[in-house]
Amino acid sequence: MNETNKPNYTPTGKEGKVELLKKKNAEALLGGGEKRIEAQHKKGKLTARERIELLMDEGSFQEIDKFVMHRAKDFGLDKEHYLGDGVVTGYGEVNGRLVYVFSQDFTVFGGSLSETHAEKICKIMDMAMKNGAPVIGLNDSGGARIQEGVNSLGGYADIFYRNTLASGVVPQISAIMGPCAGGAVYSPAITDFILMVENTSYMFVTGPNVVKTVTQETVTAEELGGASAHSTKSGVTHFACANELACIQHIKKLLSYMPQNCEEIAPIYPYEMADDERRKELDDLIPENPNQPYDIRDAVKGIVDEDSFLEVHENYADNIVVGFARIAGRSIGIVGNQPQSMAGVLDNHASTKAARFVRTCDSFNVPLLVLVDVPGFLPGTDQEWNGIISNGAKLLYAFSEATVPRITVITRKAYGGAYDVMNSKHIGADLNFAWPSAEIAVMGAKGAAEIIFKREIAEADDSEAKLQEKVDEYTAKFANPYRAAHRGFIDEVIMPSETRMKLIKAFKMLENKVDKIPRKKHGNIPL
Ligand code: HXC
Repeated sequence: MNETNKPNYTPTGKEGKVELLKKKNAEALLGGGEKRIEAQHKKGKLTARERIELLMDEGSFQEIDKFVMHRAKDFGLDKEHYLGDGVVTGYGEVNGRLVYVFSQDFTVFGGSLSETHAEKICKIMDMAMKNGAPVIGLNDSGGARIQEGVNSLGGYADIFYRNTLASGVVPQISAIMGPCAGGAVYSPAITDFILMVENTSYMFVTGPNVVKTVTQETVTAEELGGASAHSTKSGVTHFACANELACIQHIKKLLSYMPQNCEEIAPIYPYEMADDERRKELDDLIPENPNQPYDIRDAVKGIVDEDSFLEVHENYADNIVVGFARIAGRSIGIVGNQPQSMAGVLDNHASTKAARFVRTCDSFNVPLLVLVDVPGFLPGTDQEWNGIISNGAKLLYAFSEATVPRITVITRKAYGGAYDVMNSKHIGADLNFAWPSAEIAVMGAKGAAEIIFKREIAEADDSEAKLQEKVDEYTAKFANPYRAAHRGFIDEVIMPSETRMKLIKAFKMLENKVDKIPRKKHGNIPL
């Protein structure tokens, strides 16, 4: 223990007192000491304070609880104290907007969470809630401070509880920049967004050793819970970042699409109103052959403000694309089926991915744009046994209960139940557009003809020709947007190149939308 931290160290005189403050400040900045800082750097990791420096606007960070120390006595802890107790907390500004931050310091007891460490995090979470600003957690921790036992577990639960209460009130963002294991994973899991750093971070409920004992699987920490695993296989993380700097820049960008709290809207940015050629290319985006894929991101890029698209969950369930963008400088959330992957079909993962994103946008007043090209739900035992009924229902529920402005553009297929689910007029969408290439039907023409004209086709002299005749008949009747437009289920059929201008006007018209769901304690989304 440093001399100045001894409880009975009492300097005399004004100079001594000022000297003590200087010493304490200097000591706090060193965390667990120079050797451990060096070890942290050797692993390719930054320190807790270096991360905050990168995150916050220059000179804006105000630290609180810098001198907090743990109160534990067991296992030699009475002799080992570090100012700050393994987490740097405070507030400051990111791009001129207030945020609260906690940054775990791996150089102090491996960033492990003690009772006091938890109290510091809870303090800034409480402040964030009272003052309506985001909380950013930079996680780098060996988990519960083992020497503290249940006090540490209680500390975790205090944080989980606050994460839950803050959910939907202020944005919560978790960056994983080192270990995050055991129950500790449940704090990030409750927050709105998780970012992980490739090769230096991992998350799992039980680590490789326990896995080996219980399931006899041999797996490395990286394979089990690294950024790659969680951004492609589990979907636990929304972003996998190449390094810590990229991760911090991503946090800043993400914040720019979000309001400070659920009572506000996201900041509005200047934009170019150019009716450029790029939009005209949209008229040639949809291939003649309805079974030929195209990239829905090209539709997104042709519609939104230049370079404004920030994809979320880019490498997970890529048969649906979700992300933030701006249109006329205003933040929107985009959900689009991706014909380029599995023909854009809705499956378990795509449904839950999109449902979560829709709810995130709705929580924080981010209007929704839905681009539809969906052949239906994916059939099969794998899908049914893994709950496509309740997972698909999540997406249906999420759209239905969303009260933000909601606009749909059907680019091509809108078949079957997926037509209803993908923000149809019937479940409360405000405006529904369709491109001339839209096909709104119970199913594809071939499948439909084979079912309803089964006997006629079988009895025909040339059944191939008969099938084609019936396919053409069905196509003529239903493989277009006009049946739906006749009923008012589609508000307007528009040229793709007009979409941007139509959406700018439509979102402006919906700017002051007020919509309420019936009074209730809370809904019961089919989890
Ligand atoms: C106290 C800890 C600690 C912990 C690490 N340290 N984890 N101290 N409690 N949980 C200390 C080490 O003693 C060491 O101290 C320093 O941090 C750095 O640790 P190293 O092991 O040297 O670092 P490294 O090799 O990088 O390995 C990091 C690690 C490993 C993988 C995180 O330390 C580890 O496995 N720690 C234990 C993890 C764990 O089992 N945690 C409890 C999980 S259960 P010195 O003095 O040498 O610098 C849990 C439940 C939460 O968290 C439940 C919530 C409901």
